[in-house]
Amino acid sequence: MKILGIETSCDETAAAVCIDGEIISTKLSSQEIHNKFGGVIPELASREHEKVINLIVHKVIEESNISLNSLDGIAVTQGPGLSGALITGCSFSKGLALGLGIPIIGINHLEAHIFANFLADPSLSFPFVCLLVSGGHTQIWNIINFGSYELLGETRDDAAGEAFDKGARILGLGYPGGPEIEKLAKNGDYKSINFPRALLEKNNLEFSFSGLKTSLLYYVDKNKNAKTENIAASYQYAIIDVLVQKLKLAVDITGSKTCVIAGGVAANKFLRRHVEKVISNKKIVFPDLSYCTDNAAMIAFLGEKYLKKGKKSNFNFSILPNMRIA
Ligand code: KG4
Ligand code: ZN
Repeated sequence: MKILGIETSCDETAAAVCIDGEIISTKLSSQEIHNKFGGVIPELASREHEKVINLIVHKVIEESNISLNSLDGIAVTQGPGLSGALITGCSFSKGLALGLGIPIIGINHLEAHIFANFLADPSLSFPFVCLLVSGGHTQIWNIINFGSYELLGETRDDAAGEAFDKGARILGLGYPGGPEIEKLAKNGDYKSINFPRALLEKNNLEFSFSGLKTSLLYYVDKNKNAKTENIAASYQYAIIDVLVQKLKLAVDITGSKTCVIAGGVAANKFLRRHVEKVISNKKIVFPDLSYCTDNAAMIAFLGEKYLKKGKKSNFNFSILPNMRIA
């Protein structure tokens, strides 16, 4: 099947073409307008999507050497995400699919993040445990089969990506904060400051990162001359140490032979090395770096799986800003 994927849940306008499980073309336009605000401004995000979506779609169609008329379906992010941003992508996709007379499927962005791991490793097989770490979510899933997922634990407050973004803001770094902290941390000693780790008691698969952010704020206030590289490295380690300890616990509890990491924070190289060190006796899969953060390849890929099974959305489907994985 020839599927066009469209993603506009936050600040990336993205399109991709997937043909029979293979990504033929993928493009994205990152909205730099938000950088100066230290976070995404929803109203601006919608307007930026509207400006470029048509161009991005036409670029992937052209690069794929196919015509719009030959598409078999369109997959679009239905949620979770910013309302206005989702509406832009969904309205565009509905119009295009109606005009072409082809089916449309609304896709859960989080489920698509998990499935990006099949693009990295086509031999990946069910069941597996997934640590899903993005800007808005931190969850551990037992992925039993296609469409059968069990939530093992999630954050009570901030997501891991949010902890990176808020930490970066406290340290006077840019947005998104994850890559900024990672860059600075490379030249720091990650064991120099012992930031708190929450909820580490036995058998607990929940997370909490709001206290960590507060303790960073106090530390920076009281230690004006501390080396920023050491602070960044220790702060990053405090987040990653908890993520990996919980992932290991989930793997032990489920007896799973495979674990995968998904979402924007999966791009962090320190996290990748630490997972491989701590969970050394299991198969570990990470998406390619470009498929960790938001992209349309994962939307097109998952969309094709659903459309192949005959599943499609009604044209009156609504966006779901708080969509959860069923
Ligand atoms: O999945 P994603 O692109 O968007 C959401 O669905 O939320 O994730 C974005 C999050 C941001 O919080 C960003 O700071 C974080 O992923 N992130 C990173 C890295 N690259 C992106 N966090 C740590 N290290 C990175 N290299
Ligand atoms: Zn995402």
